Amino acid sequence: MRRSIITGCGAYLPERTMSNDELARMVDTSDEWITARTGIKERRIAGPDETTSTLGLKAAERALAHAGAKVADVDLIVLATATPDQTFPATACRVQSELGLTSGAAFDIQAVCTGFIYALATADNFIKAGQADTALVIGAETFSRILDWEDRGTCVLFGDGAGAIVLQAGKGRGGAEDRGVLSTHLHSDGRYEKLLYVDGGPSSTQTVGKLRMSGKEVFRHAVVNLSDAVSEALAATGLTPEDIDWVVPHQANRRIIDATARKLNIDPDRVVLTVDRHGNTSAASVPLALNEAVSDGRIQPGHLVLMEAMGGGFTWGSALARW
Ligand code: ACO
Repeated sequence: MRRSIITGCGAYLPERTMSNDELARMVDTSDEWITARTGIKERRIAGPDETTSTLGLKAAERALAHAGAKVADVDLIVLATATPDQTFPATACRVQSELGLTSGAAFDIQAVCTGFIYALATADNFIKAGQADTALVIGAETFSRILDWEDRGTCVLFGDGAGAIVLQAGKGRGGAEDRGVLSTHLHSDGRYEKLLYVDGGPSSTQTVGKLRMSGKEVFRHAVVNLSDAVSEALAATGLTPEDIDWVVPHQANRRIIDATARKLNIDPDRVVLTVDRHGNTSAASVPLALNEAVSDGRIQPGHLVLMEAMGGGFTWGSALARW
């Protein structure tokens, strides 16, 4: 059976680090409060010359190098972002152009923090259907540009960055140990828009707008939806929590990640955490965390990796892959 296999990954973080102490000089907050409520210690902030496409391009180039794939092989670019460079063209087209590619398809996916899972599921289905052979799947964000830096309830939570994977058609190694994307599950429910949204947009206000959130409510929904998305992936593949080698969750908040793992009976030592250093990078958070665990050797060939995310919309979902 034709499968999509993750053959490489890469990431890029802006150089500038913003600590909790720096934030405490801007709004009425403290390192103690942010650390206790979120687990975040610092986040990266894009420089004035950086945009979502420049971060995404660097992550994509690193993922291609890691996969040993040629730029010319790429026939699909799916870029997840809620902070595109411009309303149009798609940020994916900018990355395509910077890579020097003039063929294949490139488009953006907008599912906020679940964007990377949506992009991965989309590229996986293109490959399975025979419509693409080598896909770049990118999650890239500059959330610092849509934050209200006077709202302590939101500005302490987010950061900028990008991560990418190369997804290629293949048959895997065969047998039960087959590599590749095993299942993806996507959900959305637009009723909850007012709990997490941006109060602007080209068609409504003709402004970019700022992020608005009811944190407590989002927290409550996140744990339930993420647990459901993981249970769904396990039920669809006949696997159990003990079979999972690594959980790579969306890095919104340490407490959401811990509560979800507890609910699912997943060993916390098997959960990849970057939220302390990256904050919530929305669509970039899962590929950033994946890249870290691959780079430091935690994720090894044959390992079962479960990715999950939840974000504005609401949207949520999971993806299960054998490395
Ligand atoms: N520093 C100090 N005090 C703060 C801060 C801050 N940065 N932010 C809020 N507070 C205050 C509030 O004003 C409130 O004060 P009050 O009691 O005097 O009114 C108090 O802290 C408690 O506020 P809550 O919002 O109830 O605090 P809570 O324990 O819920 O923590 C938080 C807030 C961290 C936002 C939490 O609700 C959360 O993490 N929610 C999930 C949101 C999230 O991760 N969203 C990301 C996008 S969706 C996703 O990715 C899953």
